[in-house]
Amino acid sequence: MTSSEALLDLAMKMPKAELHLHIEGTFEPEQMFAIAQRNQVALKYDSVEALKTAYQFENLQDFLDLYYQGMSVLLKEQDFYDLTMAYLKRVHEDNVVHVEIFFDPQGHLSRGVSFETQIKGIHGALKDAERDFGISFKLIMSFLRHLDEVSAFETLALAKPYLEMIDGVGLDSSEVGHPPVKFENVFRECKALGLLITAHAGEEGPPEYVWQALDVIGVDRIDHGNRALEDEDLIATIKHKGLTLTVCPLSNLKLCVVDTLEEHPIRSMLRLGLNATVNSDDPAYFGGYMNDNYAALVQETQLTKEELYRLACNAFEGSWLDASIKKKHIKTITDLFQNVV
Ligand code: HPA
Ligand code: ZN
Repeated sequence: MTSSEALLDLAMKMPKAELHLHIEGTFEPEQMFAIAQRNQVALKYDSVEALKTAYQFENLQDFLDLYYQGMSVLLKEQDFYDLTMAYLKRVHEDNVVHVEIFFDPQGHLSRGVSFETQIKGIHGALKDAERDFGISFKLIMSFLRHLDEVSAFETLALAKPYLEMIDGVGLDSSEVGHPPVKFENVFRECKALGLLITAHAGEEGPPEYVWQALDVIGVDRIDHGNRALEDEDLIATIKHKGLTLTVCPLSNLKLCVVDTLEEHPIRSMLRLGLNATVNSDDPAYFGGYMNDNYAALVQETQLTKEELYRLACNAFEGSWLDASIKKKHIKTITDLFQNVV
């Protein structure tokens, strides 16, 4: 085996944690058509091939338009269960042992699907996969930032009977024009309820939005964070706070956040001492699950064994698992890397 083949092999085999994953973004066209048929709802595209051909995006909004269309066939608890279980089965093959997944309640409430239907389906699959595949999990409810703060408060009210199933709250959807400060009050209440907080920031939005995520919202983690690198003081602050960045290489490529993976900032982030991690975001739309993202990095960038080790450990360190469990996973990774020259 050449050293790059050995590195790829290691990346595929190592235990992984996924921290940035929208469950609605795991909706594979085949399953989307099957569920659409089961629910007797029509899709805009007449075949799996036609739908896949439409997966060409110039920016985040192009993708979001299709993403909301796709999720519109999800109506019943079983649909949410099947979607989540398909993802968990798929990433079990990639040696993912811990997931922290987002769902977008407002994307379903607006279609008359209750909060209960959504969360029972998703949480049911997570519990079953924990039992059957040993995958641990955290569940993160995300607010859609293109909607107003009143809608976020209404969603939080609906979530209150289910807080035992919810570990954190996120902020996603169209970033530019919808800065974190718009949600200052609702995140304050989320924090008071003991929920952990994360927000998409600096995917397309400017460094100012990342500052707001830190200073106004008080995030525990940053999703993406690419554009933070434009501001030296921001880099220093993220580093000082030890905040994790949930970076999504293939997503960034597909949404034209970067032109090529070679110029992806993830290695610069590591060099700057930032806690970058690798994640798939919306794998059914962006051409790859966890191992595909790692394979692309190994093959398209000059990723070193030390960098791969750092990325693997960062994912568990940045997770919301208990310290003792983090330590156990990091020991497994350390032992695995030590046995490879
Ligand atoms: N960015 C913002 N919102 C999203 C994304 C993303 O990458 N995926 C699903 N909702
Ligand atoms: Zn995302």
